[in-house]
Amino acid sequence: MHPNIEVEVAGLVLRSPLMVASGVLGSSGSLIRLVSTNPYVGAVVTKTVTYRPRTGFENPTVVDLGYGLLNAMGLPNPGYSNYRVELESVRRGLEIPLIVSIGPSDENEAEEMVKELDNVSDGFEVNLSCPHVENLGIEVGADASRVRGIVKAVRGSTGKPVLVKISPNVTDFVTNARTAVEAGADAITAINTVRGMAIDVNAMRPILSNIYGGLSGKAVHPVAVRIVFELYEKIKKPVVGCGGVYDWRGAVELILAGATAVQVGSAIAHSQSGLKVFNEIGEGVRRYLSLKGFSSVKQIVGLAHLEH
Ligand code: SIN
Repeated sequence: MHPNIEVEVAGLVLRSPLMVASGVLGSSGSLIRLVSTNPYVGAVVTKTVTYRPRTGFENPTVVDLGYGLLNAMGLPNPGYSNYRVELESVRRGLEIPLIVSIGPSDENEAEEMVKELDNVSDGFEVNLSCPHVENLGIEVGADASRVRGIVKAVRGSTGKPVLVKISPNVTDFVTNARTAVEAGADAITAINTVRGMAIDVNAMRPILSNIYGGLSGKAVHPVAVRIVFELYEKIKKPVVGCGGVYDWRGAVELILAGATAVQVGSAIAHSQSGLKVFNEIGEGVRRYLSLKGFSSVKQIVGLAHLEH
């Protein structure tokens, strides 16, 4: 048996449930094209673009802690109108959906960005969860009325799928996700990074130039599994799982918790084999399905909620 690993997220058909998470490939068009040739990559989410270009924070912006990455890049990006030019050529001939991650600070920015980027994307992921940039990300995402306003503006400006990426750094992520869904989100991506910091004990100083950063990678995986599990029961829309997927087991765990698709991020940076990590994960998921007697990955979405 050769189990089918095609999935559908908010109307987008993905040849594999594995997506490239936002941020990992930077905003490079050539890397997006390269990763899209891997048969186990179902979709790519771009680096988050903002209304205005941002240079990002000074180095150090990333610390490798072994069990995860702590980053505070500061959302460096060329700004949505410059990025549009790059995306136009990237999307031409791309075999998989290109999901553009946007980080608006209000509804006017959201509307302008989405209208301008609409015909160079197959969908949007609204980043309302970056944990360390002033007046963006979580500063917006923790405020229900701003979430509502921005998601409504995005919804009203495109007919394409709208995913909203939520934060684990709020007390009530379910209400947060519900607000996004009520405002028109088609799916929720969970989770963005967990706010943290690291101190250099020799220098006796915080390592990141921004002091605080967001933790991703293996350490956050159980947090992601729990949040996906809860969201699956509490919201009526697909959940895209993201957080510390390094191997097939991590991907299957998120799917059993309720994720329709799974994003891979830090593993790309950590893996010895680079983008081949998608083959390792994808083939592993197929083997697991075969072994368990399933013909399709869709059959195992949310199965951890049932009595067996
Ligand atoms: C960053 O660019 O600082 C990280 C982006 C994010 O966490 O959303």
